[in-house]
Amino acid sequence: MNFWQQLKKPILALAPMAGVTDAAFRPLVKSYSADVIYTEFASTHALIHGNEATRRMIAYQPEEQPVVCQLFGNEPEKFAESAKILESLGFAGVDINFGCPAYKVVTHGGGVVLMKEPELCRKIVEATCNAIKIPVSVKIRASIKCDPTTSLGAVSTTPRDVQRKTACDLVEAIKDLPVAALMIHGRSYEQPFDGWPDVSMITAVRKIFPGILLANGGIYTPEDAKRMLDETGADGIGIARGAWGKPWIFQQVHDYLTTGSYVKPTWDEIVAVIIRHAEMAKKYKSEHGFIELRKHLAWYVKGIPHASALRQQLVRVKTLEEIIAIFQTVPAPAIPLLI
Ligand SMILES: Cc1cc2nc3c(=O)[nH]c(=O)nc-3n(C[C@H](O)[C@H](O)[C@H](O)COP(=O)(O)O)c2cc1C
Repeated sequence: MNFWQQLKKPILALAPMAGVTDAAFRPLVKSYSADVIYTEFASTHALIHGNEATRRMIAYQPEEQPVVCQLFGNEPEKFAESAKILESLGFAGVDINFGCPAYKVVTHGGGVVLMKEPELCRKIVEATCNAIKIPVSVKIRASIKCDPTTSLGAVSTTPRDVQRKTACDLVEAIKDLPVAALMIHGRSYEQPFDGWPDVSMITAVRKIFPGILLANGGIYTPEDAKRMLDETGADGIGIARGAWGKPWIFQQVHDYLTTGSYVKPTWDEIVAVIIRHAEMAKKYKSEHGFIELRKHLAWYVKGIPHASALRQQLVRVKTLEEIIAIFQTVPAPAIPLLI
């Protein structure tokens, strides 16, 4: 049995987010009953060439386990080679990115544009599965428009784009391979990033994918998490932006699904989490950790009175002491918090 099969369902996963699911945020989220933690995506090329920044970015603490490291690239041999590196580093699993729309990824023929080429996806998954003993998972989107005449990496937007490759096309191409888990973001490449996703593609994938299925997209509250599970029949969920400024959402989802209720943190508890997050940034990251922490600080105070004045201060912080001093002066909001 691989680690995915040992997890109690529904499985609650922190979805991968470049620039967000970093060495400071991941352990914090794990401490709130998240079952699986994904790293930021790492380039196969950078890993193979021993890129120091990439190695630092994916460094994890034992308490985060099971940690899945996500890879992007487009060459099967490079996926195989970098998966071996991740296995030697002790990761619980390796995830393959077939869903990312980020410019730096798709312009190099990686991420979501690979969904246009199910046969190449199969080669990548097969090479990765053959290279390692730890479980391999994939992350995909609902669909992508594609013109058969456009080459890999070119995301055409011409009116001739009438064909569409879907999550089902990709899953059909890989479902006989030993893929342990699949996270599907229920929005197409072209769809806006907000709102409740059309879950019909997730339910269609549920019917043909035999492994662990995680549904992702638009989950911001415990009620959303339940709705997603009920509507899709997935084995679990992936939460991405719903964890911004709310690492405790995993505990709330867990409590809601098991008891039907959950508690919201008080302002004092939120401040304690912020300080803990900053302490982790100091401990696990270099001084750059505080630059990357600033956006999290802004997310924590979203919706509180005078948040914009507070954010002006927070976007400049450089040390743990500054953060502690700022929050000592912030009174508990008199209105209910939007959390
Ligand atoms: C800032 C940011 C970075 C992301 N980075 C990645 C990534 O590295 N790999 C990936 O597969 N998806 C990435 N995603 C997509 C998320 O994992 C997720 O699929 C998407 O945000 C939809 O989920 P949500 O509605 O819960 O946010 C990223 C999303 C955001 C907002």
